[in-house]
Amino acid sequence: MSDLKNKKVLITGGLGFIGSNIALRCLEEGAEVTVYDCLDPRSGGNMYNLHGIEESVRIVVNDIRSMEGISSCIRGQDILFNCAAYTSHPNSMREPLIDIDVNCKGTINILESARRFNPEIKFIHVGTSTQTGKMCCSPVDEKHPEFPLDIYSANKTASEKYVLIYGSAYKMRTTVVRLANVFGPRSNIKTPDFGFMNYFIGLALQGKPLTVYGEGSQLRNITYVRDCVEALVAAALNPAAEREVFFAVGDTQYSVAEIAAGIAENVGGQVQFVEWPRERFTIDIGDAVISNEKIKRSLGWSPRVSMTEGLVKTREYFTPVLKKYL
Ligand SMILES: NC(=O)c1ccc[n+]([C@@H]2O[C@H](COP(=O)([O-])OP(=O)(O)OC[C@H]3O[C@@H](n4cnc5c(N)ncnc54)[C@H](O)[C@@H]3O)[C@@H](O)[C@H]2O)c1
Repeated sequence: MSDLKNKKVLITGGLGFIGSNIALRCLEEGAEVTVYDCLDPRSGGNMYNLHGIEESVRIVVNDIRSMEGISSCIRGQDILFNCAAYTSHPNSMREPLIDIDVNCKGTINILESARRFNPEIKFIHVGTSTQTGKMCCSPVDEKHPEFPLDIYSANKTASEKYVLIYGSAYKMRTTVVRLANVFGPRSNIKTPDFGFMNYFIGLALQGKPLTVYGEGSQLRNITYVRDCVEALVAAALNPAAEREVFFAVGDTQYSVAEIAAGIAENVGGQVQFVEWPRERFTIDIGDAVISNEKIKRSLGWSPRVSMTEGLVKTREYFTPVLKKYL
């Protein structure tokens, strides 16, 4: 019997990329899943992400900024995966107040609701590697200082600290799992605003050129979405994760140019090199080489899916349903 069997799981942002993949995994294991999502058109929320399992999941279309809405769902739940966020780096620079509203106030709202109505819940919050900004040392681990370069990453830093404060001040069972360059089925492939990798996959699926800025020499950890889901589930089920922060990232660092070449080879399209647009250059973090040692040691998690295998699985998922994502 799996540890998720018969668990009540609430997933905010569960119609988005990572949230919907968590929903599928929890359902496979016999959990009772509630998805809470406002389907923000500026995000990766997509009803099709739950295609085939809509009848087996309770779907609540509402906003995390509604205390009433979130409170009515949080009571009685065993595990919360907080994946709802305003997720775009460039949008956060154009619309900083919306980003604060969703990522900061929205997170506080869920935390307050949990503290009042379900303080025993396992609260798993998703953070991002871009919270660290430019690397002071390599590889970056969870103790690296945070100097984020865009408003989204700054607000993810703030929201992570709120989650940890609720853990320490109220002894709530909170955990932060920071992710980096997640790719795979159900991602937002239609705009470059959500990270380059899934956008490149979308271009490749349409046979369009993949445009790499500059030489594309910046290093990145990439992570296949199923590996991220396993890390988040491990954090939810292992008491050693409580009140901790983990990086859950792939083992290998690739340059952006290598990732583009991998996509061209396994999905389609051709790589083109172009000049950096100014708005992108100023918020680029340069090399990001991240250590996943802590989560391996503490929770026994390891990434299993290679870039090539992940790209092939992603192509196989999207090819017959591409129209639903463009
Ligand atoms: N995708 C990545 O590479 C990556 C990397 C690091 C961290 N993350 C984090 O993972 C989490 C999930 O990201 P994702 O890639 O699945 O993004 P996504 O945009 O696909 O999903 C986010 C979901 O949140 C929902 N949402 C947005 N605002 C909401 C609100 N006010 N109320 C309720 N729902 C709302 C959206 O409708 C969407 O379905 C986010 O916290 C993000 O910061 C993602």
